[in-house]
Parts: sequence; structure tokens; C-alpha cells
Amino acid sequence: MKALSWFLSIAICGAAMIAVATLGCQKATSAKPKAREQAVKPEDKPKSPAPTPDEAKAPGEPKAKTANEPKAADEPKAKTADEAKAPSKPAEKVAAKPVAYPVPRGLPPLPVPADNPMTPEKIELGKMLYFDKRVSKDGTVSCATCHDPKMAWAEKTATSTGIGKQVGPRNSPTVMNAAYATSMFWDGRAASLEEQATGPVENPIEMGHQMADLVVQLDKIPEYHERFQKVFGTGVTKEGFAKAIAAFERTVLAGDSPYDRFKAGEQNALTDAQKRGLALFENVGCADCHAPPLFSDYEFHNAGVGMDKEKPDLGRKDVTKKDEDTGAFRVPSLRHVADTAPYFHDGRAKTLEEAVALMAAGGKDHKYRSADFDTVRDAKVTPEQQKDLVEFLKALSGPIPAVEPPALP
Ligand code: HEC
Ligand code: HEC
Repeated sequence: MKALSWFLSIAICGAAMIAVATLGCQKATSAKPKAREQAVKPEDKPKSPAPTPDEAKAPGEPKAKTANEPKAADEPKAKTADEAKAPSKPAEKVAAKPVAYPVPRGLPPLPVPADNPMTPEKIELGKMLYFDKRVSKDGTVSCATCHDPKMAWAEKTATSTGIGKQVGPRNSPTVMNAAYATSMFWDGRAASLEEQATGPVENPIEMGHQMADLVVQLDKIPEYHERFQKVFGTGVTKEGFAKAIAAFERTVLAGDSPYDRFKAGEQNALTDAQKRGLALFENVGCADCHAPPLFSDYEFHNAGVGMDKEKPDLGRKDVTKKDEDTGAFRVPSLRHVADTAPYFHDGRAKTLEEAVALMAAGGKDHKYRSADFDTVRDAKVTPEQQKDLVEFLKALSGPIPAVEPPALP
């Protein structure tokens, strides 16, 4: 079974590291951590693309099966006792360092917080919680409802519908590659996946539950109790819940797109239109904000989207309270953008063509429209060029990580 070999290979590598690191694991872990922020900066782009698991495979190491199957983790042994002791301060930004967790071609090293190492048991537990509808108050909604693996880990509606058919104000972002984002949500109000994970549970229109009640409810399910014991050395806790889900989300990685293959030297990976689009993307200034390799620098900008509404979404301003952040939203990653329509924070653009047209115009006029859109605006991108840009964006889609919903206790 696929999953089994994945876990086995981690376990083998982990066990070897506990004794004396084998060549393979040592090599893998010595790809040295830099600061998490740096891992996603464009200038930090690896000279050569990240190796596929097969390329990265050291002699004697178990063969990895697919691009998305993790092979080695930096700190594979969960220090369960420590983890249980250390009280989490979710409001603080957890230091994350890139670890040698195998990532698909084209992605930078995976940032993993030091206090939440990746282990197979934790990832499996997180996956169960991700798919479990009992996490919502009325048992109708799971994380996968709005971040559906079958819909490129997002959803097709403009904005989300939670429990009791309540409709929220924002578009659900894909969970793919969320591991690299330096803040979470369109307005960046959560610092990490760990901090993010409990948000939807308590959001009255998403899952409408209380963490305190949910923890008690889940702990009564013997298999969850045992699994938490095994992973964290405690019964079900809020902290463990968040850590397990975050660890699972960090495995939802998508790369190996035609663009990545092109960068790796495959000249034919892009069509002529896509090559023209790539040049435009760099020259007219799209890449200033949608910086490769993640196609986002995770900064916040007002593009004038939705600002004509009677009660516009203030975005980043609600977090920083600064007027100049009014209507600013986090630059979305454009990896897999062709698979995640509709677009923008309120899902108002139905097609990629529509979204690109607005961006190519340098956004819509608004008091706080970001001056960083001026380069694009001044470039006077033609309709023909917009078509090439759209074609190029399609080249940012590789295989979508497939996960079957696990059996739930
Ligand atoms: C009712 C639909 C819904 C449910 C259920 C839901 N989400 Fe979300 N999720 C959203 C929306 C909408 C956003 C964007 C909200 C915002 O920016 O304010 C979001 C944002 C996120 C993000 C941030 C991604 C990024 O790029 O910033 C992550 C990660 C995430 N959700 C994971 C989860 C997890 C884990 C669960 C289950 C515990 C969950 N979501 C449940 C709709 C949902
Ligand atoms: C000044 C920074 C900046 C520049 C330059 C920029 N973008 Fe954007 N882009 C953003 C922001 C911010 C959003 C989200 C806006 C919102 O939802 O309110 C966005 C959204 C998008 C989206 C929708 C993605 C989604 O998932 O919703 C696409 C597609 C896009 N940009 C393509 C481009 C292209 C192509 C260019 C060049 C012509 C470009 N952008 C230039 C900041 C920028």
C-alpha cells in the first residue's frame, strides 16, 4: 500500500538517524535551514530546481513512490513528553526552518516549525481530523468541505458556505502549498498553519463549534484518545489538534508543473505562447508581487477589488488598524491558479481571463490602490499579451496531490 511504504520509508530513515545518521538522511538534513521568510524569497530561488524524490534518493535509501510522498523528516521522532509539556503561544510567530522533507520539483525546502516536527503518526491523525465532519457543531462540515482535494483543495463557489448554509464573505484559498505562506488568510491575521487551524472551528458561520467542547467530544472517541496519546503524550488538546492538522497540511504540496520542468531545462515543456507569457510576466511587473518560485511574496496590496461595495471588506486594515492597509489583501500564490477559479478575495472574477485583465490594468482605482501596481499599469498590456499571460499561468499547474478520505474512528 502506498501510504504504508511512505510511512515505512520515513520510519526507516528516522530510525537510522537515531542511531547514526545514514548517508541518505544525513545528506538530506544537511540542506541547511535558513530563515523561513528567506525560503520563499525570489532571490533565494534554488539554482537548480528541487530534486524529485528519485533524484534526491541517496544510495541504499528506500525508493520513493511519487513526487508527493514524503521520504525523510528532519526530526522524525516526536518528543512527545516535551511537546505535551510546552504550552503553546499561538499568537507568536513560531520559528520555522526548512527541513529536508521531500518536496515536488520546483518548490523550495519545506519550512517546518521546530516545535511541530513531521511524523507519520501525526500526519495521519491530522488527515483524519481534516476530513472529520464531527469537527463542526452540527456534524455537517469538515475542513475538506471548503478545501476539497477533488477541487484542487479549494472550492468552486465565490465564497464559502458553512454550517446551516451560512454564506461567508471570502473565497476559500487552496490548501496546496499553504505550508510556504508567511501568514495565513487573505488578511494575514494568523501567523502559522498551527494558529490558523482552530479558527474555522470557532468561526460561527464556518464550523460554529467551541474548541473546549470539541476537545472533550473528540477525547470520548477511544481511537482519537489513543492516537493523541501516541503522538503528543496527552489526550485530545487544542494544541495537539492544531499541530496534527498543520502537519497534515504541510504534506499537501504541489509543484512539478510545466513551468518547473522548463526551468529544469526541458525546453519543450512550455508552448510558444507560454514562453511569451513568462517573459511578459517578468517584464511588466507581475513577478514583483507574484514572485517565483511560489508566485507570491506574501505581502499585502490593495488592487481596488470589491472596494465599490457599500460595505467593502477592509482586509488587512482590520488586522493592522492602519488606514493605508484599507482593502489590502495578501498576494495569492499563482501556482495551480488555473484550477482554483473563481478568483480574488471575494471570488468575484469567474475566469482567469477576467482576473488577469484586472491585474493587467494595474488594479482598479481606489484611494489606497497600491503604487506597486504602477509598473504593470504603465506597461499598457494589450489584449493579445493578456492571452499569453493566461496561457503562461496555466503552465503553473502540475499534478494535484491526491488524498483519499481516511477511515474515521
Ligand atoms: C465553511 C468553509 C470553510 C471551512 C469549513 C474551513 N475553511 Fe479554511 N478557509 C475558508 C475561507 C473562506 C478562508 C479564507 C478566510 C479569510 O481569508 O478570512 C479559509 C482559509 C484557510 C487557510 C489559509 C490559507 C491561506 O492561503 O491563507 C487554511 C490553511 C485553511 N483555511 C485550513 C482550514 C482547516 C484546517 C479547516 C478545518 C479545521 C478549515 N480550513 C475549514 C473556508 C473554510
Ligand atoms: C502590486 C502587487 C501585484 C502585482 C504587480 C500583480 N498582482 Fe496579481 N494579485 C495581487 C493581489 C494583492 C491579488 C489579490 C487581490 C484581491 O483579491 O483583492 C492578486 C490576484 C491575482 C490573481 C487572482 C488569483 C486568485 O487566486 O484569486 C491573478 C490571476 C493575478 N493576480 C495575476 C497577476 C498578473 C498576471 C499580474 C501581471 C499582469 C499581476 N497579477 C500583478 C497583487 C499583485
